[in-house]
Amino acid sequence: MNYSIMFKSVTGNTELLANTVLHALPLKKCTYFGGFNKSEVEKSDIIFVGFGAENDTCTEDVAEFLKTLKNKRIALFGTVNAANENGYFDSIISKVAENISSENEIVGGFICKGDMYKEPEKDNPNILFTGSDYSSVHPNIIDLVNIRDFARNMYYFM
Ligand SMILES: Cc1cc2nc3c(=O)[nH]c(=O)nc-3n(C[C@H](O)[C@H](O)[C@H](O)COP(=O)(O)O)c2cc1C
Repeated sequence: MNYSIMFKSVTGNTELLANTVLHALPLKKCTYFGGFNKSEVEKSDIIFVGFGAENDTCTEDVAEFLKTLKNKRIALFGTVNAANENGYFDSIISKVAENISSENEIVGGFICKGDMYKEPEKDNPNILFTGSDYSSVHPNIIDLVNIRDFARNMYYFM
């Protein structure tokens, strides 16, 4: 079964997930890895679509791409800065999924935290992420293990 991974990542958090999906699945079955590319869609049986959240959903370019998909199996994955309180992660997947027509099948969705990078401060040049020390920066190793398992579930069992 062929798959492709199409994503948008401004600060690299979602890209880290995308790389992990690629390494979790058979490389020979990957038909495309990179930014959104309509001409590459037909070659894959399942598309992993990745995004970083803005204003509680995906950005307009991600939404526009999702609206073009027809008769595809789609697995969504994304990163957000906020914690998963009151079903926040599920609500992001639901909002992003609103851009996908019912001709498609959404096989699953995965969200984890992605910390926001900030410019180094003069008196604190080593602090690059908000609200975290380095060891708790997300996506962390547990997030990557989780997206690996998610990718394999989507690919082998859905
Ligand atoms: C303009 C802007 C809006 C954002 N809006 C949200 C938001 O509504 N909810 C949230 O949890 N995180 C929000 N974030 C944080 C990003 O979703 C988060 O850092 C994500 O991991 C970025 O992904 P990327 O590194 O792949 O670009 C926002 C970030 C930016 C720059």
